[in-house]
Amino acid sequence: MDLGPLLSILSDGEYISGVALGQKLGVSRTAIWKMMGKIEELGIDVDCIKGKGYRVGGGLDLLDRDIAKGLSCSDTVAFCDVLLDVESTNSYLMEKVARHALARGEFGFCLAERQTRGRGRRGRLWVSPFGQNIYLSGTYFFPGEVSRLTGLSLSIGIATAELLNEMGVPGVELKWPNDLMIGGRKLGGILVELSGEITQGCMVLIGIGLNVGMRESEVSTIDQPWTSLVEEGVSIPRSRLAANLIEKIVATVSRFNESGFVEFFPLWQKYDYLKGKPVTVPGGDLAGIGAGINDSGELLIQSEGKMVSVNAGEVSVRVSTDSD
Ligand code: BTN
Repeated sequence: MDLGPLLSILSDGEYISGVALGQKLGVSRTAIWKMMGKIEELGIDVDCIKGKGYRVGGGLDLLDRDIAKGLSCSDTVAFCDVLLDVESTNSYLMEKVARHALARGEFGFCLAERQTRGRGRRGRLWVSPFGQNIYLSGTYFFPGEVSRLTGLSLSIGIATAELLNEMGVPGVELKWPNDLMIGGRKLGGILVELSGEITQGCMVLIGIGLNVGMRESEVSTIDQPWTSLVEEGVSIPRSRLAANLIEKIVATVSRFNESGFVEFFPLWQKYDYLKGKPVTVPGGDLAGIGAGINDSGELLIQSEGKMVSVNAGEVSVRVSTDSD
């Protein structure tokens, strides 16, 4: 059952009767009633009033299913699947490219309206309600040694921060290694994973989660301070943001493939959230002051008169006041 056409009718937030919906979609009222049940299963609140019909209060900002067609880099994007509901866009892409390999130099993308088991770093769940945020994954084959990927996830973070900046989002910072922050609150995160045989190169999966329309008053299941573009007073249609992000990822990965982290490294300073802040590495008995990163993307901490470098891996770094 494709709920897309029904959702797109309901996206204007106006009431419409079951009869009118049935006529528009060429199905019975009973079918409409069943579809409404499915829509509610996606976590969307549907108001139903006798004599008026159905509506989604406040409407929906749906992703453009044909987003790939308008991209400036459409020649290198083999596909961009726009899904209503998926466990995780990273897992989806991983399975898809295991079945149909991409040609060299081609990108594959996936966007979803909702993730039921969105994956965050360190095994965390990424809260992914329907139609609110960006859940985007991209994949690309990197030839050569895996060590060539050093700094890739930081480069994607820098590129995302640059894009948000260019699109008029104020105060974006990067908390090493991969958190996008505004005012000390998490706006988004990046999860880079490798897939397949890691001998003659590997498939890289780049997952980006960005909080766009999520409201603090509506979500209570995130256990760390977070924000969204709407909470910051910024309104950007999700499709425009997603299309710009895809173009940015293609440009960044292509540039990184040519020259590596060296191109991106100097830009880190512009967004460095930890610089000059007291930080601790839990479990590592390390405390000091954030002092930037080195050209391998490791975090530098000034501790007891020495400069110590910390590798991203599974480490989480806390600012003394953070709950993360
Ligand atoms: C983090 O923990 O900060 C990283 C979060 C990454 C979330 C994104 S949402 C799109 C993609 N699919 C996933 O399952 N995770 C990433």
